[in-house]
Amino acid sequence: MTDRVVLAYSGGLDTSVSIGWIGEATGAEVIAVAVDVGQGGENLETIRQRALACGAVEAYVADVREEFATEYCMPALAANALYMDRYPLVSALSRPVIVKHLVKAARQFGAGTVAHGCTGKGNDQVRFEVSITSLAPDLKCIAPVRDLALTRAASIEYAERHSLPIEQTKSSPFSVDQNVWGRAVETGYLEDIWNAPTKDVYTYTDDPTFPPVEDELVITFAQGVPVAIDGVAVTPLQAIQELNRRAGAHGIGRIDMVEDRLVGIKSREIYEAPGAMALIEAHRDLEGVTVERELARFKRTVGARWTELVYDGQWFSPLKRALDQFLAETQRYVSGDIRMTLHGGRATVTGRRSDTSLYDFNLATYDEGDTYDQSQARGFIEIFGMQSKLAAARDARFGQGVVL
Ligand code: ARG
Repeated sequence: MTDRVVLAYSGGLDTSVSIGWIGEATGAEVIAVAVDVGQGGENLETIRQRALACGAVEAYVADVREEFATEYCMPALAANALYMDRYPLVSALSRPVIVKHLVKAARQFGAGTVAHGCTGKGNDQVRFEVSITSLAPDLKCIAPVRDLALTRAASIEYAERHSLPIEQTKSSPFSVDQNVWGRAVETGYLEDIWNAPTKDVYTYTDDPTFPPVEDELVITFAQGVPVAIDGVAVTPLQAIQELNRRAGAHGIGRIDMVEDRLVGIKSREIYEAPGAMALIEAHRDLEGVTVERELARFKRTVGARWTELVYDGQWFSPLKRALDQFLAETQRYVSGDIRMTLHGGRATVTGRRSDTSLYDFNLATYDEGDTYDQSQARGFIEIFGMQSKLAAARDARFGQGVVL
């Protein structure tokens, strides 16, 4: 029986050419798999028809936006996931959900190999292949661009020679990956890291230099998940979409950074993640009110580690899974309302209220109604500072005291 290959298919030039290219190079039949993670653009039926027209024997298409928002973006929100303190894991989050569907399709159509369109220089090849082996150790992986010498020039030539139905008119100067959690833009003149991004880089956000009048909203969270905006119930997907629109209008969530890739390269990337950044800001603030101090401190460490694991393609790893359990536990009381103002590139929290709050007005107040016994602070500090005092006295004995 001829081998079958499931291909992660975007509908673009390279993956369209890959269908025939894989067939010629390996003799296998190709099944195209296209999933909607909120990247916008063409509808799935158009993409499906193109895959078949390019020679795929089957096309598997699925709208996985709710699944992606609920099972991938919401855990990232629980972790306040920002790689290198800045990047909200946009592409890193979508790879595991795409892989899940690639493996489903492989099982459904009896394929023994999975193919993806990544180059050999980035993180995504690692994410695809490590996730595939984690879910289906028996499947093989190939990458036509990396392993079968499919260059850009060869793609264009192949598409013309076979009259493939692909528009090549306006080829973007950038390499873009986008989904509902955000958008990543690289290559072209951005590779000179002194070059400032030009206006055409951005599509999820408007220029924050000339913002419309400020937009105030209230986000309601239940156990760390946004469940309503301005009192109207929303699914996680709807919450992200609405905030993409509203925060995007104020230019919130633009990120220009040089990041450390897993493969050892530093690379320049521009991100736009208006909804994700506004949600993380709101969620973090609510955690400030509802998460106990020691748990909050440790959670920051766990969240940072979780983020690195996901960035590094370890979504299905045992450590990541165990940290998921920890993070879920931390969200038990992260419920309540956050009021925020969106304006001029910033999402600013201006108020919070929660039935599960640990904020005690009577302990905090400097006005009437104080229930905090200040006389006990003296004894607390005496004992808390004991070790420092002993160490300082020893330093003095050995002439090592702080020079004034
Ligand atoms: N550097 C980011 C990551 O590894 C985004 C890569 C997405 N690809 C792109 N063509 N911009 O998660």
